[in-house]
Amino acid sequence: MFDIKTLPAALIAEVLNVDAEEITSLLTCPPDDSMGDVAMPCFKFAKLLRKSPVVIAQELADAINAQAQRLNDGGFARAEALNGYLNFYLDRNLFVEKVVREVLAEESYGSSTEGSGKTIVMDYSAPNIAKPFHIGHLPSTVIGNAMYRVFSYLGYNCVGVNHLGDWGTQFGTLIVAYKRWGSKEEVEKGGVRELVRLYVKFHAEEENEPSLRDEARAAFARIEAGSEEELNLWRWFHEISLAEFNRVYEKLGVKFDYFTGESFYNDKMDAVVEELRSKNLLTLSEGAYIVDLENEKMPPCIILKSDGSTLYATRDITAAIYRKKTFDFHKCIYFTASAQNLHFKQWFKVVEKMGYDWAKDLVHAPFGMISLEGGVSMSTRKGVTVWLDDVLEQAEAKTLDIINEKNPALEDKELVARQMGVGAVIFGMLDTARIKDVAFSWDEALNFDGETGPYAQYTYARCKSILRRAGDIDFNSITDVNYTTDSEYRLARLLYEFPAKVVLCARDYEPCVVARHLIDVAQAFNRFYNECPILSAKDEKTKNSRLLLADATSRVLKQCLWLLGLAAPERV
Ligand code: ARG
Repeated sequence: MFDIKTLPAALIAEVLNVDAEEITSLLTCPPDDSMGDVAMPCFKFAKLLRKSPVVIAQELADAINAQAQRLNDGGFARAEALNGYLNFYLDRNLFVEKVVREVLAEESYGSSTEGSGKTIVMDYSAPNIAKPFHIGHLPSTVIGNAMYRVFSYLGYNCVGVNHLGDWGTQFGTLIVAYKRWGSKEEVEKGGVRELVRLYVKFHAEEENEPSLRDEARAAFARIEAGSEEELNLWRWFHEISLAEFNRVYEKLGVKFDYFTGESFYNDKMDAVVEELRSKNLLTLSEGAYIVDLENEKMPPCIILKSDGSTLYATRDITAAIYRKKTFDFHKCIYFTASAQNLHFKQWFKVVEKMGYDWAKDLVHAPFGMISLEGGVSMSTRKGVTVWLDDVLEQAEAKTLDIINEKNPALEDKELVARQMGVGAVIFGMLDTARIKDVAFSWDEALNFDGETGPYAQYTYARCKSILRRAGDIDFNSITDVNYTTDSEYRLARLLYEFPAKVVLCARDYEPCVVARHLIDVAQAFNRFYNECPILSAKDEKTKNSRLLLADATSRVLKQCLWLLGLAAPERV
């Protein structure tokens, strides 16, 4: 991909006889392009050259403008000096052409090999077995999935892990509740919802009958001790839950390479506890074994409870060591709510204290809290929740209504309704910075106007429809092009910026960078579409030029949609 800073940097470097890289770091792309498309402040050279920045800028401009052909070949019209700045102006026609040709020439424009040979493990979604797969799990699921795609696009080898919450005292709870109030038929019929009903019932009953808690603890101890009866129930709950989760993943188009949940580490934790002990990191405190983190100004990380059972952190430490051994990751990234910040800080520290230098490669990428409308917080125990499945179903139904109203003859309309309905929900989670809290609102999740997933999908389909109507065109044979309008330039400029956005998104683990860009490109395309007739352009040259630009746009839109995990239907 060409970079508009390369040529200016080279030209300046030659005149000043310095390193081009040094110049590149001084160049900016002013947001207000009346100040040039690439600019360099000359103040830094005043001392060295014993001249004023104004003079330096002028001398540079004169020397560079003398090389008109080189400027032109690089897509520039001229350089100008202004108030101690040296500003380069693109030749917009040349620039748009260069961008369009580049986008069209590449198989996957914006992809790269920066990550080749490096593995990134991504830990996302991770709902809890026998509990609702609710909208609180949506950010982790869709952010993790998007980041998986983004890193793959940059050439990394990605490993997606679903660290299911499938171990812990709550399974004792469930077994007790099932035996008391449940039945095989009801669970088979109701699936996870029936399991959750039992779980909620347990917590309501335990108020009056506190001994239920001990029963539950005892039941979990029997699971841990390997009692077949309890283990079989646990396996059954596991199976039912996973089948349901998989239905949701399929709708969302989210995939994992491994479903290694917490229980996967059961037989691997003893060795880790032993290792902690031998490294003198374990302290006995009120019957429990902890790693003291007082020097780090954090509460201790509990490794073993007084009854000998392990904890969430024990399983995370064990899983990290296992993943390092198995995948030799360059990075291992965890996508969870910010409510777990302390948990990750603590156990990352424990891994560091164990002497593993790769502790620095563990990354926690937190996101904000999801609350319900009216500030209600979700609680499985109380049965207050919004099931992801319901959200997706409603989104689909609403989209189908819209299609039936606007385009009832559309082929495969159920499929398109799903793609756009789900697209609205996914996009709604990705278009704000990760860390912002989100109040879930049905209206907003299902809003298809404005800056939404369906708006971008719709724009993509519009591009494709124009290209279809243009018929068979051999884009390679179009050599004579002409771009004259501002809206063409604005659009091309965004296409040009796409690869850098992908890199930025990966650097900050922020899918919203790509989501914002998607909307920017869609809006710029729609402006171009309104201002520049394409199929009815005044002459063949203009028409072909615009078709090329529409095609390049469609590719970037499709790539953005894919990176975010949205489908790109060709007809809507
Ligand atoms: N199951 C956990 C939850 O629902 C998330 C697990 C995140 N991954 C991890 N390795 N701790 O909160």
